[in-house]
Amino acid sequence: MKIAVIGTGYVGLVSGVCFAECGHDVICVDKVKAKIDNLLKGIIPIYEPGLNELVESNMRAGRLAFENKIGPAVKESEVIFIAVGTPPKPTGEADLSYIEEVSRQVALAMDRYKVVVEKSTVPVKTGEWVKRTIRFNNKAGVEFDVASNPEFLREGSAIGDFLKPDRIVIGVESERASDLLRKCYQPIIDQSVSFDLETQKVIHQAVQDTKVPFIVTDVHSSELIKHASNSFLALKISYINAVANFCELAGADVEQVAVGMGLDSRIGTQFLHAGVGYGGSCFPKDVSAFLEISRDLGYDFKLLADVIEINTRQREIFIRKIKNALWILKDKTIGILGLSFKPNTDDMREAPAIDIIKSLQLEGAKIKAYDPEAMDVAREHFQDTITYCNDPYEVARNCDALVLVTEWDEFLNMDLERIYELLHYPIFIDGRNLFNPVDMKKIGFEYHCIGRQIPR
Ligand code: UDX
Repeated sequence: MKIAVIGTGYVGLVSGVCFAECGHDVICVDKVKAKIDNLLKGIIPIYEPGLNELVESNMRAGRLAFENKIGPAVKESEVIFIAVGTPPKPTGEADLSYIEEVSRQVALAMDRYKVVVEKSTVPVKTGEWVKRTIRFNNKAGVEFDVASNPEFLREGSAIGDFLKPDRIVIGVESERASDLLRKCYQPIIDQSVSFDLETQKVIHQAVQDTKVPFIVTDVHSSELIKHASNSFLALKISYINAVANFCELAGADVEQVAVGMGLDSRIGTQFLHAGVGYGGSCFPKDVSAFLEISRDLGYDFKLLADVIEINTRQREIFIRKIKNALWILKDKTIGILGLSFKPNTDDMREAPAIDIIKSLQLEGAKIKAYDPEAMDVAREHFQDTITYCNDPYEVARNCDALVLVTEWDEFLNMDLERIYELLHYPIFIDGRNLFNPVDMKKIGFEYHCIGRQIPR
């Protein structure tokens, strides 16, 4: 198949590369020429494990090309995936102006039947607007279909999520569109192209007994599956964080509660980790957009407002924990471990560390910080207002408190006795319940965490 992917961000680049890995001829397009020039030189704009190697191998195989212009890519392709950003407006609703602009440019370039696919996360009914925009700009008057194909990629595991998904969802209005999209995904549906979670490598296996569910539905339902899924995952996180706050008052242990809950197969163990709450480029944006589109359509989805409120308050509760542990923050030196919104990414969009650091700075605290991947991105947020360290021990040296915000494995494996010796005050505030309170007390820390009891 000949495929065009418009937009070379997390979704576009990972989707394009994985389609190429499936044997398709893919052209990835971006309007920012510098991005395309870098990609042609093998410079990847995002940190995503395994992505560099796949870009390089598929470019070398001649299956993956990068273009700065939409026109040629559209003319050469049968299926065009729109994977541009849908950032939140100040009101929380999704900014769909990039989707509209790309739809218009695609329409102007169409010279024969095309399937134009929404891969970006969009509010329900966006497909209708895309169709209308294309109809108004379809200079050649050719036949086309608009379809929806939401992505369920997690940053840090995006390639595995694409090649070994729980399900593939498409929303279509014709058999023709459905057949073409099925062809795009056939190697993944029959798992002849897959991903080994042990070795974290792409695998090509001729015969596979596992099949990936391929859900064919209408465009509205497909669009809604994405918002409803992400909002439910965010709800699950806010729910366990609310339970954690309750546990602190009730003398219970949220980690034990989560184990007891998660063993119920209807609940499941994942996304029940209490902490400082969720961040990232998806959950905050998608929950707000879902809430806004619900209100526009006349349903006040109050539950989503509570999900957002609990998440916002979770950071405030954590910041108060730090203040309560230190009494006076002014002129204190506080070490921050972890700046990315979650491990295995350099992404700091909506990262809890941003609010936490800025709030501590407002009280006059001095900040030292380290993150295994996000240090360059952090400089864009904090410039020279914090001290950038090269490892957790440099952070800990002479600090009045050490605060863990992102649960990188590097922190789980650090030498805690050494950390204890380096600290000025042995105060450890754990925002992700990474450590065991009993162990931390044995070492001598004054340990604080989320929703658990600290042994006296
Ligand atoms: C999410 C969805 O998981 C993915 O399916 C969708 O396509 C994009 O949005 P992502 O934002 O990359 O993926 O990361 P995810 O692993 O879902 O974590 C999101 C946030 O939730 C992170 O800040 C993480 O720290 C937090 N989280 C996650 C918790 O606080 N507790 C949990 O139990 C799980």
